[in-house]
Amino acid sequence: MRLGVNVDHVATIRQARGGKVPDPVWAAAAAQQAGCDSIVCHLREDRRHIQERDLWAAKKVLTIPLNLEMGAHPDIVRIACRLKPERATLVPERRQELTTEGGLNLKREWSRVERAVARMRKAGIRVSLFIDPDPVQIALAQKMEVPIVELHTGSYADAGSAAERTRCLQQLKSSVREARSRGLIVAAGHGLDYDNVRAVAAIEGIEELNIGFSIVARAIGVGIHQAVREMIGLIREDSS
Ligand code: PXP
Repeated sequence: MRLGVNVDHVATIRQARGGKVPDPVWAAAAAQQAGCDSIVCHLREDRRHIQERDLWAAKKVLTIPLNLEMGAHPDIVRIACRLKPERATLVPERRQELTTEGGLNLKREWSRVERAVARMRKAGIRVSLFIDPDPVQIALAQKMEVPIVELHTGSYADAGSAAERTRCLQQLKSSVREARSRGLIVAAGHGLDYDNVRAVAAIEGIEELNIGFSIVARAIGVGIHQAVREMIGLIREDSS
């Protein structure tokens, strides 16, 4: 199981005072050193955390892949095509949301997403679509001819009861099977933490988990290196 560490919230703290620290690129380098497999940064249209200069600095410093999370907006697509990260993950983006609240609605947003996918594919970027664990969205992702889907684990993470959590887990499992049977590589993420991650990591067919908030929050107590090592220990069978 690969771990992608999202460092957006290191930048959230930096932006709180508008200065230079803490530096998300420094955090990304520390996470890389601790053994994660990729770094995720979300360049939002409103630039509330990650800034464009962070992406260029991350590209210089990192030897592991950079996964640029982004909305399918022409301005951001233009930046992605210049930056050429190893991967771009398209997500829905609404200005008022606290975080990415759901997956892409590929039916409603087909032409906008398709345009962004085509442009980035031409620039040599591997594109992933962040979608809900829903067979309709998975079929549309296959039709879009992207290599990767990332399944939104927010409903699982936010489940209010054990029964609800089991239901969400079943939905994730059947979605992973569906996506795999359609030839898609499957990643997952959102709301995963040190308590709930194991059940998702145990789902056969998921190759990568992308985790941000819980790792950054834990790092405040134990440091980035240990926070990343602990998460790797929970998700990788061969980590001991
Ligand atoms: N994957 C995607 C596509 C996301 O949008 C996010 C949130 O930015 C994450 C993973 C990580 O979510 P969290 O910060 O809740 O771990």
